[in-house]
Amino acid sequence: MASRLTPASTYAGHYRGRSAIITGAGSGIGACLSRALAAAGADVVCADLDPVAAAAVAGPIGARAVALDVTDADAVQALVTEVEPDLLFNNAGITFGGETEDLSLGQWDAIIDVNIRGVVHGVAAAYPLMVRRGGTGLSGGQIVNTASMGGLMAAGLITSYVMTKHAVVGLSLALRSEAAAKGVGVTVVCPSAVDTPILDKGYVGRFHGRDFYLKGQGVRRPLDPVTFADQVLAAVAENRAMLVTPRTARIQWRLGRFFPGLVQRASIRFVAKQRRLQEQRALAPR
Ligand SMILES: NC(=O)c1ccc[n+]([C@@H]2O[C@H](COP(=O)([O-])OP(=O)(O)OC[C@H]3O[C@@H](n4cnc5c(N)ncnc54)[C@H](O)[C@@H]3O)[C@@H](O)[C@H]2O)c1
Repeated sequence: MASRLTPASTYAGHYRGRSAIITGAGSGIGACLSRALAAAGADVVCADLDPVAAAAVAGPIGARAVALDVTDADAVQALVTEVEPDLLFNNAGITFGGETEDLSLGQWDAIIDVNIRGVVHGVAAAYPLMVRRGGTGLSGGQIVNTASMGGLMAAGLITSYVMTKHAVVGLSLALRSEAAAKGVGVTVVCPSAVDTPILDKGYVGRFHGRDFYLKGQGVRRPLDPVTFADQVLAAVAENRAMLVTPRTARIQWRLGRFFPGLVQRASIRFVAKQRRLQEQRALAPR
């Protein structure tokens, strides 16, 4: 998927000549971020657990591909020490969708390791370096963490994912308040569903089908990842604390803050709806 960006984009000046590591760059949002950053003139390092996927993204945009498992703290540290990135995008993530009683302890460990520890490894490696380099403004660098609407709203049937993304939102906002005076920016991005391969992954028990993830969040059509990447780069260039997108997600989030009971009841209805959908599927002739 080609980036719609051109070097004439309003924020291109922010990225030109700056180094950026993107984790989970071999697919979906990470791939689109990599392409958008390269189009904006950044020196891009595409890091992914899947080196073939990373190379397929990096090749056409003149970026470097690196095999990286974000659960490996030493490997993350080694890459950050070598690249000394101006921007680190902690984007790699996995999900599980289904009833929580069907989740194995191994799956809990896996999602904690990738979605929480993976981000912690990036922060632990890059933040001290950025603080040492920092002074005023954003001279130290920027850390961009991919959370999710799941980090702001407690949707059922993606419970383990919601837990990890709440952790990423908390880490990002707290770190931002520390980092501001040290010349380091921290941005957390919270999209609702984005049209990427993750929507076809991580089903547990009898749940399956990407409409499971979409209906669970009341989403009719997922966001286009190219448009989303463009929004992320604009938000990071403005050093915004958070990007919550699309507009319907911002409305849901604000409603949840003012009327938590209302949103909790809606979440219970969504779960019931998803269960009914799965039952109908199970009964339907194949
Ligand atoms: N697509 C959505 O609907 C959506 C919505 C909100 C947030 N997110 C978040 O966006 C991020 C990117 O997701 P995506 O939709 O592009 O998914 P994706 O499945 O298309 O891509 C995820 C990439 O991460 C890589 N990865 C997985 N485990 C890794 C590890 N241990 N180390 C390094 N790389 C690893 C995978 O190989 C893959 O290339 C995730 O953090 C996800 O939770 C996605």
